[in-house]
Amino acid sequence: MLVLGIESSCDETGAAVVDERGRVWSDVVESQIDVHALYGGVVPELASRDHLRNVGPVVSQALAKANVKVADVDAIAVTSRPGLVGALLVGVQVAKGMAWASGKPLVGVDHLMGHLLSVFLRRGEPTVESPVPEFPFVCLLASGGHTALYRVDAPHAEAIHELGATRDDAAGEAFDKVGKLLRLGYPGGPVIDRLAASGDATKVTLSRPMAQKSSLEFSFSGLKTQLAQRIAREGVPEGQALADLCAAFQDVVVGSLAGKLDVAARREGVRHVVIGGGVAANRGLRARVQELAAAHGYSAHVPPLASCTDNAAMIAYAGAIRAGRGEHDGLDLCATSATVLPRTTRKGRGNR
Ligand code: KG4
Ligand code: ZN
Repeated sequence: MLVLGIESSCDETGAAVVDERGRVWSDVVESQIDVHALYGGVVPELASRDHLRNVGPVVSQALAKANVKVADVDAIAVTSRPGLVGALLVGVQVAKGMAWASGKPLVGVDHLMGHLLSVFLRRGEPTVESPVPEFPFVCLLASGGHTALYRVDAPHAEAIHELGATRDDAAGEAFDKVGKLLRLGYPGGPVIDRLAASGDATKVTLSRPMAQKSSLEFSFSGLKTQLAQRIAREGVPEGQALADLCAAFQDVVVGSLAGKLDVAARREGVRHVVIGGGVAANRGLRARVQELAAAHGYSAHVPPLASCTDNAAMIAYAGAIRAGRGEHDGLDLCATSATVLPRTTRKGRGNR
């Protein structure tokens, strides 16, 4: 089965062709970073307009690179939730138009399902098979909009349970807000990651949020406030001091994410853990998750960078799984800002 996937939930316009085994035939991503960098964050109206400009060429390129025509694909998958509704509408309308014109099934995909299953994508030589996680596994999904731990018993929403999530900011949001405070441009995550590599985390003391071992919930807004207060007091550091502060901040975030993933894996008794979402591109997090897995005897599956940040290949694959189960949508498919995954963690101050 070949699926064309389209992604436009935030600030990346993507289209990809993927088969039901997760092999990536093409994966085209057009980033809008330059459009939003000026404003220090994503401007929804500008995102919608840029998706509208780019979606046609991006879909054509994805089909051309895969050397297929719309007539050759078995379904058209599109991110329909969650995300910026105006941005989602662009991809959803294009997918509907293509499905209607070609008579192919239309499959709406939850963006978070895409991130959760992105570990199954196979890039590069189709003959090279790297190990895939076995079900059940625990997944840490950490992106600009979401941060949560899930137990995944099978690749569909009814078999996925949230074990804990953030009570306030997402991890990527924290990276980006701190990047802004440190005048590192947008998005701050990759820049902090780079600077942290030459910094010494022990040079700066920061308190750890939601440090209780038993809690699988996260909190990052207090950490951001600690940094804001420090910067208001001492100004934005430069040179080595800047690298040390980035290292200390990243160390706290990574410690929280990897530490709770480890607690969840052992509590659930799973043999496999997975990371996904843009923050899973963080080198400190990738290394820490692998260290903890080796120390505690389970396997860590860390996808390549292109599978972590937003892309349409993960949407096409999640769409292939839905289509394989006989699930598809009508032309009344709506874009919405809510995920299909169950939410159990409340936002706001916790009592743990
Ligand atoms: O998954 P994603 O591409 O989009 C959303 O669905 O949100 O994640 C984007 C987020 C941004 O907040 C970005 O700063 C963060 O992922 N990010 C990183 C790194 N690369 C991207 N954060 C930390 N370290 C990185 N290397
Ligand atoms: Zn995402």
